[in-house]
Amino acid sequence: MLLTGRIPKHAGIIMDGNGRWAESRGLPRVEGHRRGVERTKEVVEVAAELGLKVLTLYAFSTENWLRPNSEVTTLMKLLELYLKRELGNLVKNNVVFKTIGDIWRLPEDIQKVIRETEEKTSLNKGMILVAAWSYSGRNEILRAVKKVLCAGIKPEDLTEEIFSSYLDTAALPSPDLIIRTGGEMRISNFLIWQGAYSELYFTDTLWPDFTKDEFLFAIQDYQRRERRFGAISLKADAP
Ligand code: FPP
Repeated sequence: MLLTGRIPKHAGIIMDGNGRWAESRGLPRVEGHRRGVERTKEVVEVAAELGLKVLTLYAFSTENWLRPNSEVTTLMKLLELYLKRELGNLVKNNVVFKTIGDIWRLPEDIQKVIRETEEKTSLNKGMILVAAWSYSGRNEILRAVKKVLCAGIKPEDLTEEIFSSYLDTAALPSPDLIIRTGGEMRISNFLIWQGAYSELYFTDTLWPDFTKDEFLFAIQDYQRRERRFGAISLKADAP
């Protein structure tokens, strides 16, 4: 047992700082991404071991398409390599793989590997690993609005629950905890609808240095938070 106490059902991670990690060592930025994949593997394993139901990794935002072609291509290749190399481990650890985002914008061959990994892990019963790839919250919400309109749902019938079912994350619980590495304190378009009540954890640690222990530390920090969801604290109210 790695930790006792309350484990978040769903944690999301904004994996930031790969470029700075590399630049501070005089290395090309892509080296930071390569090292970042190692951390990704480690965190996925620990999260599954801890018993999280869902782990969502913000790996490639809609805005990341604006980066130089060579960096975009490397990131796509890294995803492909990760999926090919890790499929065995994902199956062994009972992990279901899913993606959210505008996956259709990805090169055909990468889309194919994604589809294959989704299919080959679809019968697993353990943690759901969600890669947010070519993803942004506003884009997801806008696509959901279009789907709602196309479905002909009347304004008076539209509820938060129904709307949520048109998001890419339909059927997934909202994130209890959102972690951001790399020192910035913002959400950067990540799960902006779903994260309305998420606990936020920011650390200066750059993603390539975010080890298993750092992840456990973030979970322990979450365990000390009191979640009220807009209601009043039962403790504070006690005589
Ligand atoms: C942010 O660092 C990180 C990314 C844009 C990419 C994250 C991707 C991975 C760790 C690789 C693969 C992921 C999976 C799911 C296999 P940055 O480049 O914005 O860093 P900076 O802020 O220091 O410039």
